[in-house]
Amino acid sequence: MRPELSSHIDNLNEYNTVFLVYPTWWYKMPTPLYTFFDEYDLSGKVIYVCVTSNQNGFTNELNEIRKMEPEAEVIRGLSFQTEETMKAKPAIDKWLDGIKASW
Ligand SMILES: Cc1cc2nc3c(=O)[nH]c(=O)nc-3n(C[C@H](O)[C@H](O)[C@H](O)COP(=O)(O)O)c2cc1C
Repeated sequence: MRPELSSHIDNLNEYNTVFLVYPTWWYKMPTPLYTFFDEYDLSGKVIYVCVTSNQNGFTNELNEIRKMEPEAEVIRGLSFQTEETMKAKPAIDKWLDGIKASW
């Protein structure tokens, strides 16, 4: 499924780094993200991928993204499960501090 996106990004070419954060739906990315990858060419960009879920965490989506965006660098970011998300901020801050030299 490729549902139509309700908003669009006009200036993605101004960015080198993309943070993709989404909830797992039925073991995969939400369907609008597949439309997103159809609509935008992320070649040459770094994509940090973070996921929230009830329990599954990362499944096969990093490979899916790499297939859809073969010229992007896709990096596994953080994964939080439902009960962790409300207290995730310190872990997110620490992770961002650790990677910020690269973007
Ligand atoms: C349609 C739908 C499908 C979902 N499928 C999964 C799943 O396959 N595995 C899983 O661990 N969580 C699944 N979840 C739970 C969501 O990942 C979880 O609710 C979300 O990460 C937390 O964000 P929220 O607080 O906005 O709901 C699903 C949720 C919805 C609404």
